[in-house]
Amino acid sequence: MLNTKVKKAVIPAAGLGTRVLPASKAMPKEMLSIVDKPAIQYIVEEAAASGIEDILIITSRGKSIVEDHFDRNPELEEKLLASGREEVCREMRRISDLCGITYIRQKEIRGLGHAVYCARSFVGNEPFAVLYGDDVVIGPNPACRQLCEAYERYGLGIAGVKKVALEVIGKYCSLDAERMEDGYFRVRDMIEKPRPEEVISPYAILGRVVLPPEIFPILEKTPPGAGGEIQLTDAMRILARQDTMIGVEYEGKRYDMGNKLGILQAIVEVGLQHPEIGGAFREYLNGMSAGGQFSL
Ligand code: UTP
Repeated sequence: MLNTKVKKAVIPAAGLGTRVLPASKAMPKEMLSIVDKPAIQYIVEEAAASGIEDILIITSRGKSIVEDHFDRNPELEEKLLASGREEVCREMRRISDLCGITYIRQKEIRGLGHAVYCARSFVGNEPFAVLYGDDVVIGPNPACRQLCEAYERYGLGIAGVKKVALEVIGKYCSLDAERMEDGYFRVRDMIEKPRPEEVISPYAILGRVVLPPEIFPILEKTPPGAGGEIQLTDAMRILARQDTMIGVEYEGKRYDMGNKLGILQAIVEVGLQHPEIGGAFREYLNGMSAGGQFSL
């Protein structure tokens, strides 16, 4: 046991979100709601529940609404209190007390690797978690915590992995990963957005990693890769080839808020479990699938 706790997290949320246009033209995709909560709030809650104490959110032009969401809103709180809605008011305050959050702007949108590189002063010489701003993971055991526990055990870079269908792996990355006796993977190599003949395995990194600060000098030298962007995968590949990368097949359902189907899946599944409207929504969907006309 190394007993090195991961206390810092970076949430890159500066991307242009071109796959969900026009929804993301003026509204950051990270702020799109799953029922009644913006995606990025689920992510900040996951980080806080994982023991993270300080979060840096990477934003860009037009994304200051993210800062507003995690700020206090005294006028709103006053209004809620005056109308006897103490519970809602408490919930609004809870959002701004979730974690210490700071912000930095990525001035040019040059890729996920470049966004993470913008966090180097915030991170300093510590390990840190990266939670991709458009990947929401829901489950009883926070995904970020599962990765932090693996870091505490190995002291190496940790990739959050899941098995994906071979037909879609070209959108992600493919890992050369060998399962070890304790269930973790030894990750030896990876390739971003592989062509069919380049796929190494059906395992991809999805939405969560923990990295050592040694990633920054690597990122500094990482040239643009797939899509002309500076890819975080290309930098992590160097760690993997040095045999310093472990994979964790994390528990939890991942929703990709960066594509339209992912957004709908998140809304339907979270909506069905929602304490306030879950029952009515289930009835509505049952009526729809029975071909009925339905009005709520
Ligand atoms: P994506 O590649 O999924 O986001 O990055 P994107 O570039 O916005 O997507 P499309 O392809 O145009 O639809 C994963 C996360 O990294 C952030 C994004 O905001 C997203 O939350 N990101 C991406 C940055 O912060 N900066 C970048 O330069 C690129």
